[in-house]
Amino acid sequence: MNSPHSPGASWFRDLVIYEVYVRAFRDSNGDGIGDLKGLTEKIGYIRDLGVGAVWLLPIFPSPRRDDGYDISDYRGIHPDLGTMDDFRELLDRAHAAGLRVLTDLVLNHTSDQHRWFQSARYGPGHPFHDYYVWSPNPGRYRDARIIFPDFEPSNWTFEPLCNLYYWHRFYHHQPDLNYDNPEVRREMLDVARFWLDMGVDGFRVDAAPYLFEREGTPCEGLPETHAFLRELRGLCDRYQPARLLIAEANQRPSELVKYFGAGDEFHMAFDFPLMPRLFQAVRAEKAQPLEEVLRARPALPAGCQWAMFLRNHDELTLETVSEETRKFLWDELAQDPRARLNMGIRRRLWPLMNGGRRQIELLHGLILSLPGCAVLYYGDEIEMGDDLSLGDRDGVRTAMQWTMGVNAGFSAAPAEKLAVPVVHDAEYHYAGRNVQSFDRRPTSFLNWLRRMVKVHSVDPIFAGGGMRLVPCAHPSILAFTRELGDAAMLCVFNLSRYVQPAVLDLTPWKGRVPVEEIGKAWFPQIGEAPYLFTMGPHSFIWCRLESV
Ligand code: BGC
Repeated sequence: MNSPHSPGASWFRDLVIYEVYVRAFRDSNGDGIGDLKGLTEKIGYIRDLGVGAVWLLPIFPSPRRDDGYDISDYRGIHPDLGTMDDFRELLDRAHAAGLRVLTDLVLNHTSDQHRWFQSARYGPGHPFHDYYVWSPNPGRYRDARIIFPDFEPSNWTFEPLCNLYYWHRFYHHQPDLNYDNPEVRREMLDVARFWLDMGVDGFRVDAAPYLFEREGTPCEGLPETHAFLRELRGLCDRYQPARLLIAEANQRPSELVKYFGAGDEFHMAFDFPLMPRLFQAVRAEKAQPLEEVLRARPALPAGCQWAMFLRNHDELTLETVSEETRKFLWDELAQDPRARLNMGIRRRLWPLMNGGRRQIELLHGLILSLPGCAVLYYGDEIEMGDDLSLGDRDGVRTAMQWTMGVNAGFSAAPAEKLAVPVVHDAEYHYAGRNVQSFDRRPTSFLNWLRRMVKVHSVDPIFAGGGMRLVPCAHPSILAFTRELGDAAMLCVFNLSRYVQPAVLDLTPWKGRVPVEEIGKAWFPQIGEAPYLFTMGPHSFIWCRLESV
């Protein structure tokens, strides 16, 4: 990776990103709450994963009714997590270790406890009233869907102080900002500038599609919203090196691609269309869902790419898949009704895959070799489980497991004071799944992942190479090449639980020799005949096609 201070707008092309929930990561002062100093202590651990950036879930003052996505002060640090000096220290230490730091930028809404809304509630004429979207009745913008249908019956909530309804796309305690008001646009660009000036390397822009509303539309991805997002990009481009913008826009491919603009909007967008298909392909043991979504992947403007992920702090959303696929995934992955939330599944990666290491390696192999950046979620590297007894998405946000000691080494506080619980259930107990134990064991998933991230990161073909699907008649085999100049890397995946033959037409590379990328084993030279790989259950292989 480039050092954080080297020039060039594409420093993120070979990035692997590690997502951290600070409150649950490491408590430095024994108050039971993970904090910024605790995260700073662990910078070495994150660097040794081989990742290039750490993305922090919201760290700002907030009543925390949506875990910090309900912000009450955009320019502060939540006192539970530390101080602004702690944040500066984190930035310095991360940068010194060669890691970039990304934060969430929550543009769409504030907390109802934000001073703007507290004043706005008194009605027209009161300061900041026009910072929010009001209506005398809840009938406007009927075409906008409800994003949290398990919790909110409407996108409007009545405010008795002014006898008006206010608009919100998420929880009712998160009023949407009114982007038609130029003051709001200016304020939010100032917020972004504030953090960029401090040295933040980029933003994961939360809920990007919903900034503007227009009657008769779904109020998502409107041209006005894109125009504002381009302004935000313009701001990021004024920094050297340019700062990174990643869109959280849970949209279908044809809509999602608009968030890249003409290369003048987001540098990256989370690949929401791919994510559920990865699980579908593994559970159905079929390559087809992946081939379809990869063929439908729109071409991106230069300098743009996908951010691929398996799991994150939210539910595995199934909003953009067909009803049939949604039912399949619900039946396969969420037999326990408690696992279902809104239009998705609130489980961590390991329980989702019933602890199947081969399947999980396969999934990581995919996001580390398809074009784009891979985003990892804290704890998945140590096979962390979840806690379905907790409400909403809290079950996937439990304490990081560092050791087999007290509170899994997360905190020295008495267990009853922990801000987030530690997973105790027998199957995923922290005594068996923690960094210390996994670190020592060469065969652990943690060490496997470190090796794979390293192999991925040192090879420019994964960062900049194009991709071509290699036809294969076998329904369980997915094969593609990554290509850069004359170099080619063949990637073959067996989605089946059984050994399978992968018979591939490799004649375009006739004369070359496949050399396996990890162990460097040489395979027979490619000739005219179809080429056979014997693939173990849920296995994958990366082979450089060497000219000899
Ligand atoms: C975040 C969620 C949050 C929502 C509302 C999402 O996109 O990822 O965790 O609840 O935005 O802010």
